[in-house]
Amino acid sequence: MENILIVGNWKMNPETTEGAEALLNSLLKEIRKEKNIPEVVICPPYLYIEKFSKKLSGKKIKLGAQNCFWEEKGAFTGEISPLMLKNLNCQYVILGHSERRIYFNETNEQILKKLKLSLKLGLKVIFCIGEKKEEKENDLTFDIIKNQLRETVFKIDKKEHITNIIIAYEPVWAIGTGKNCKVNDAMSVLTFIKKEFLNVFSSFVAKKIKILYGGSVDLKNAKEYIENGFDGLLIGGVSLKPGEFTKIIKNCKEV
Ligand code: PGA
Repeated sequence: MENILIVGNWKMNPETTEGAEALLNSLLKEIRKEKNIPEVVICPPYLYIEKFSKKLSGKKIKLGAQNCFWEEKGAFTGEISPLMLKNLNCQYVILGHSERRIYFNETNEQILKKLKLSLKLGLKVIFCIGEKKEEKENDLTFDIIKNQLRETVFKIDKKEHITNIIIAYEPVWAIGTGKNCKVNDAMSVLTFIKKEFLNVFSSFVAKKIKILYGGSVDLKNAKEYIENGFDGLLIGGVSLKPGEFTKIIKNCKEV
């Protein structure tokens, strides 16, 4: 079970520190009752990381950030470096999320720079890839995935660094829409990603890479992805509902 990873991406929620603490507290309370749960990571907005870091020390939940910059420090107004995250005992960072690619025009080249520095500093990276709706409709899913991997993850050559990458397959059209990807379709992408890794790395390394599914995961569909070979889930909306989120964690434990 330790192998399964459930990540909650809170995005830009909630609006106050009190709200964030209340959310974390109810999650901790729900999870406290569960034994042998999968690995759980919460990625709140940056502002709450310091507080959460203290609160989560020694607890079952680990801490992640939703983004970071590609330099350790310097004149980069408004940015947060992976070194700062590391210094706050943050263990994970999400990179390449489609909302960053779309709203902030992040390119594969920029994401690669973030990836390299995060890995060098010892962070585990939840690396998002996935096709947009029109790309799926034009049968371009595999081409897009291949390109996203080749321009980023496949340029990392240190074995110990590669195994700190966790791939999250998140079809863009499925994120926040309530239209999750059909399990069979997601499985064919899962198989494709695994094959691509085997083409580039040794099977010893490739087999160590976790692959998560994300995009409108809910209580009804969560378990299916795990049952069909995904190593975990990246959950947005439902991670803000501690009761449901904990049920998903519990269900995945029973797979
Ligand atoms: P969602 O978000 O679960 O709300 O679809 C997933 C994500 O953006 O990681």
